[in-house]
Amino acid sequence: MRVKLVAGNWKMNGSLASCQALLKAIMPPLSALKRARYAVCAPYPYLAAVGQALKGSNVALGAQDVCQFEDGAYTGGVSGAMLADCGCRYVLVGHSERRSVFGETDEVAAAKFAQALRHGLTPILCIGEALAEREAGTTEAVVARQLDAVIRQGGLETLARSVVAYEPVWAIGTGKTATPQQAQAVHAYIRARIAAADRRLADALVILYGGSVKGANAAQLFAMPDVDGGLIGGASLVADEFVAICRAAQGAEETARI
Ligand code: 13P
Repeated sequence: MRVKLVAGNWKMNGSLASCQALLKAIMPPLSALKRARYAVCAPYPYLAAVGQALKGSNVALGAQDVCQFEDGAYTGGVSGAMLADCGCRYVLVGHSERRSVFGETDEVAAAKFAQALRHGLTPILCIGEALAEREAGTTEAVVARQLDAVIRQGGLETLARSVVAYEPVWAIGTGKTATPQQAQAVHAYIRARIAAADRRLADALVILYGGSVKGANAAQLFAMPDVDGGLIGGASLVADEFVAICRAAQGAEETARI
């Protein structure tokens, strides 16, 4: 059975002091939420300190990117081994900001995905269409292409050790959340596509929704049968909002067990 996961993506925000203040505010309420799983993806320089603060808690540490190469002369790169060393459990791969701002291709994202797995990290593979692609009716083709690049490079079974995050680009940081039905439709498509090759793998795969998730809309999104939690940007920086989203995941788990 899939368990809901909520991961905060802090992006390139804050300072060491603000990260610590945020953790101080979210950790006590989150420690009471035992049903779902939680993570925060911190900026590289703060990973060690954030990891220290999370030790022994029910919130896992994640990074926002990983180098596609193993080690060596890659100035500025941060390897999967380094992230594992810092106590990371998760790492975002192929976030749309990496793709659009830093020119990351599907193949680079797939290589990063492989590096994460190689070092025992769980990659959170981000996929999703831009507004023009949705309007052109190519949403499914886009997410299929992004997913297939990973399957082609590593094999379908590598998805069993990963999480997928559907993040429509038009919903990221815009306040325009996908409706629960829009999210559900794409999540169901992703799951069905994988199920065509391996039903058990598809049934177990955690698929997160990301894009303007807030305390006020999280419960409706998480109530969708194929939405297994959220990848949260802006709202993960606001303690009350993030806690409310985490509570919505806990609530969805409680409802599922009745
Ligand atoms: P927002 O929640 O700010 O829309 O960002 C979503 C996101 O990009 C998470 O990775």
